[in-house]
Amino acid sequence: MTTRYITTPIYYLNGEPHLGHVYTTIAGDVLARYWRLAGAQVKFLTGTDEHGQKVAQAAALAGESPQAYTDRLAKLFFEMCRKINASEDIFIRTTEKRHHEAAKALWTKLEDAGHIYKSSYKGWYAVRDEAYYEESEIVEGKAPTGAPVEWMEEASYFFKLSAWERPLLDYYEANPDAIAPIGRRNEVISFIKSGLRDLSISRTKFSWGVAVPSDPEHVMYVWIDALTNYITALGYPNIKSEDFKIFWPESIHLIGKDILRFHAVYWPAFLMAAGLEPPHRIFAHGWWTCDGKKMSKSLGNVVNPFELINAYGLDQVRYFLMREIPFGQDGDYSDTAITQRINSDLANDLGNLVQRVLSFIYKNVEAKIPEPEELLGEDREMLAKAAALHDLLREDMEGQALQGYCQHIWEVIREANRYVDAQKPWSFKKSENPKDLARMNTILYVLVEVIRHVAIYVQPLMPASASKILDQLGQSERTFEALKTPLKSGTSLSEPHGLFPRREL
Ligand code: MSP
Repeated sequence: MTTRYITTPIYYLNGEPHLGHVYTTIAGDVLARYWRLAGAQVKFLTGTDEHGQKVAQAAALAGESPQAYTDRLAKLFFEMCRKINASEDIFIRTTEKRHHEAAKALWTKLEDAGHIYKSSYKGWYAVRDEAYYEESEIVEGKAPTGAPVEWMEEASYFFKLSAWERPLLDYYEANPDAIAPIGRRNEVISFIKSGLRDLSISRTKFSWGVAVPSDPEHVMYVWIDALTNYITALGYPNIKSEDFKIFWPESIHLIGKDILRFHAVYWPAFLMAAGLEPPHRIFAHGWWTCDGKKMSKSLGNVVNPFELINAYGLDQVRYFLMREIPFGQDGDYSDTAITQRINSDLANDLGNLVQRVLSFIYKNVEAKIPEPEELLGEDREMLAKAAALHDLLREDMEGQALQGYCQHIWEVIREANRYVDAQKPWSFKKSENPKDLARMNTILYVLVEVIRHVAIYVQPLMPASASKILDQLGQSERTFEALKTPLKSGTSLSEPHGLFPRREL
């Protein structure tokens, strides 16, 4: 049986959910929904990263205890998942007991196997990135990401990362698909080749985190704690559990490009050192800008995802985010771009196809899916294009090509609109000749069958809208399996309603 374990990053609780959070979560949701419809066994994980200095500082700034603060903010992220119709199977919080236990178990495993030693750290640290930086990386007193850095000197435990250069390079050579897109893989390989230093993995200057089991004066570095969430959710340290055995080998970590190093260097090294398999695949997506500029509070151009959803509709926003840019590249948000996308792809292409075909049938063919007669070459071609989606879309999803997934479906939608224009079913409406009526019924049957395919494949992208179309078509079987059986004639259609109103700029 096909199995997929899809994860988003767990989000820092230092502010409200923003477009970056919504973007990865929707991408994960589209993949999870797709694989469920394909009959796979799926686990989709998201959640919150609640420890560390950054969160502790945010709590202090809010005048709350870290626990009260994270409880309050975790709710906002859980609510975000509801607002974007995410279908996560697990929403994990790193403050949960099971997670503390898993993080401690991983630490103990690493320590017992001799991968951890005590020393002291001296160097730069950026709280905003929760990352250490080398002297050589500091640009004009700042981290390469632009984050402010502070000098840090404290007793610290270290993970012997330097020992994992060769094993990591060998692993990535043997598993060319483990990091995508390819540019990100190259970036990781050259980073490893430039030499890995041992990694400081504990702090003593604050206490908001998971205590080091053998030395509770120390709290774990937030990244070793946070990364462990991916296996906590599968029952770690019980690696004999069904979940761990089934899902871990099929993990897909969706992340933003800024957190690649943590996921593709540190995480696999921790796992290998603990005798576990590295993640199966890491996919790093790009960043959204707004009107060509980096989103920032100081520029005042941060796109609020909930305002977008209120203004344009949830499915419209989900579709836009997946369709507008190739998954893996940076992209730009603008009101013009989303408006054009809604008008062209949703109102003109999909909405119009469904509306014109279904209202014609509703008004003129007794509101029932007509019986087809002899299929002509053009009918077969149209049906073949819809049937071909099955393999094309599976390939897209295997590679997390979310934009390609949209494009392949929309090629069929546009083809169907051309087919309507060319076949002109309405031209037969008034004819007395039974042959003409048979032809009209055949054309309409072909169109409903194409719309059924399209709607079933659109479900992962726009669950609510796809479900409305399938309701109108009277279809209760909605998995990809259902498409193996030809559309049944005679099913009653319900009254069609417009799906995607046009937008003014
Ligand atoms: N807590 C860590 C992840 C730990 S995973 C074990 C973290 N959290 S975060 O809340 O800061 O960021 C979450 C994600 O949001 C990252 O993948 C980041 O790339 C993404 N984005 C933040 N701003 C973004 C855009 N402007 N555009 C797209 N994604 C962006 O990092």
